[in-house]
Amino acid sequence: MKNTTEKKIKINIIGTGSCVPDNVVTNNDLAKIVETSDEWITTRTGIKERRIAEPGTATSDLAIKAAKKALEASKIDPQKLDLIITATCTPDHLFPSVSCLVQHAIGATNAAAFDLSAACSGFIYALNVGRGLLESGIYKNALIIGADALSKFTDWKDRGTCILFGDGAGALILESSVSDDKSHTILSVDLGADGSQTNILLIPGGGSRHPITDKGIDPAYPPFIHMDGKEVYRHAVIRMIQTANNALQAAGKKPADLALLIPHQANLRIIESIAKRMQIPMEKVFLNIHKYGNMSAATTIVALDEASRSGRLKSGDLVELMAFGAGFTWGAALIQW
Ligand code: COA
Repeated sequence: MKNTTEKKIKINIIGTGSCVPDNVVTNNDLAKIVETSDEWITTRTGIKERRIAEPGTATSDLAIKAAKKALEASKIDPQKLDLIITATCTPDHLFPSVSCLVQHAIGATNAAAFDLSAACSGFIYALNVGRGLLESGIYKNALIIGADALSKFTDWKDRGTCILFGDGAGALILESSVSDDKSHTILSVDLGADGSQTNILLIPGGGSRHPITDKGIDPAYPPFIHMDGKEVYRHAVIRMIQTANNALQAAGKKPADLALLIPHQANLRIIESIAKRMQIPMEKVFLNIHKYGNMSAATTIVALDEASRSGRLKSGDLVELMAFGAGFTWGAALIQW
């Protein structure tokens, strides 16, 4: 017979952290290398500057710093960590994973570690995988990281893409709990994908389809971001609204219940269009796109960390993260702060 006093396991966020490289690259800096202007980039995207990792700095260097800050905030002993999942599409190496590099650097010797690839939606995917493994009781806690260094896969001669991206990493610690305390609890997550649209946003070369050989890079398949910006824009607006509404509905909530919306920071016009259609005033929308551009899997978690540390999030606030990326992939997560 089922024990009716058995309490449902809740998954809580017990600490967050983030890290961006020190190196600031402004729109005017970019105007010196491609035909563009601060005015064009600002009006078309909302981006003023971005952080670019120095040569020699890789994704794991940023991920490790973000993870250490999340550990500090959560006051958890790294040896007590059960699991590390890093969402990234720009790992230091094809293997080992960024998560294994983080595991060693932070001394999480008892944690299982793997990476997950869902491009810019990766952090929300990783959050849901971690949440599922904790809800099942397999693990008690998990370090979830979103980290990318897209600058290393950018064609710095392509003005259509090089203006958009920046590097960064964010992390949080999830812990399962059976207490009645509802703070920092994940209420619902929605995920989706459409694999029929791969040619609109991809890195054509450098993988097993078009590998880099001893003859070098095949110029037909460069290991750099290729994007049809207009099409990505169209899909991003539709899918992010859909996934945000799905996550809200799953928890019995409405857009008007949100204290803060943290959208993927790819383009300010995309964000404004989503907020308008969801009837969410821009005062309730978190923005850091002007400082960082699109940091791929790091975007939403860096924003959540900044919102939390700056006091923008109060206890009990309903906050929703949403993202869209290559694949296509999309996802939204609803959290009661
Ligand atoms: N500076 C100046 N001019 C530029 C430019 C730049 N950096 N990039 C493109 N242009 C030019 C184009 O060449 C084009 O010129 P033309 O009309 O003479 O051909 C003109 O500006 C318009 O280009 P277009 O691509 O139609 O601009 P847009 O308004 O669609 O904006 C993006 C381009 C990339 C900013 C926009 O499409 C976008 O943000 N898309 C979504 C990107 C995204 O979200 N990606 C990541 C998803 S995870």
